Amino acid sequence: MAEAMLAAATRGAGGAAADPVIELAGVRKTYRTGTVEFEALRGVDLRIDAGEYVAVMGPSGSGKSTLMHILGCLDVATSGTYRLAGEDVEQLDEADLADIRNRRIGFVFQQFHLLPSLSAWRNVELPLVYGQVPAPERRARAVAAMERVGLGDRLDNRPGELSGGQQQRVAVARALVGEPDLLLADEPTGNLDSVSTRDVLALLDELHAQGRTIVLITHEEDVAQRAQRVVRVLDGLVRGGGAR
Ligand SMILES: Nc1ncnc2c1ncn2[C@@H]1O[C@H](COP(=O)(O)OP(=O)(O)OP(=O)(O)O)[C@@H](O)[C@H]1O
Ligand SMILES: [Mg+2]
Repeated sequence: MAEAMLAAATRGAGGAAADPVIELAGVRKTYRTGTVEFEALRGVDLRIDAGEYVAVMGPSGSGKSTLMHILGCLDVATSGTYRLAGEDVEQLDEADLADIRNRRIGFVFQQFHLLPSLSAWRNVELPLVYGQVPAPERRARAVAAMERVGLGDRLDNRPGELSGGQQQRVAVARALVGEPDLLLADEPTGNLDSVSTRDVLALLDELHAQGRTIVLITHEEDVAQRAQRVVRVLDGLVRGGGAR
């Protein structure tokens, strides 16, 4: 753990080649439903370096979300290896996985997954609550993140009082508030109109320009073209773009 934190702290400092943020080798994921098994990932090799902006494309059911859940330590591979910032994820228990998610990863989903009873800024501060950041600092950082996504005037609105595009920007603010190295976005513009799509994509471009590593899952070719590299997933396998 200490080694990985040192790596994170010193990453990119001297312009030296950093460890890849993400390194998957031979990753398989089998879902079991009753007695039925389904192999959603069938041996995925994928390497993503620090600071890259990668789009993942593929037809419905090809395994994109499964892959994202593994990348995000929300689920574990059935076999194969996953190294995240130098740490072997398979070796970690649930508490360590939760810790890694909190420290390193921000998530944005197609369904915004905001808590409807909380105001926007309260939603944004949540990752910091889990991270045990003191309350005044939480509020300051949540407000700053809301301002960053252009919603400094909507702090106290609940999600139901915001448009879809605004809700997704709140979700992006929540993903950012912990200053994660890695931002994982699964169809973040899937429920948005063209104007909101443009806003959210511009935000991702900005975050990438600031050095964040971004993995964006999308069905849309024009959205994918915003990334530096497109990884294509088909039938549980990476068919193109898996290595730089
Ligand atoms: N929890 C689960 N239990 C059983 N099968 C699952 C589970 N989650 C996904 N699958 C199956 O695994 C395959 C890959 O699903 P996944 O959600 O990764 O696809 P996807 O590429 O994200 O598709 P979409 O573009 O529709 O979101 C699908 O055939 C799906 O039915
Ligand atoms: Mg999906």
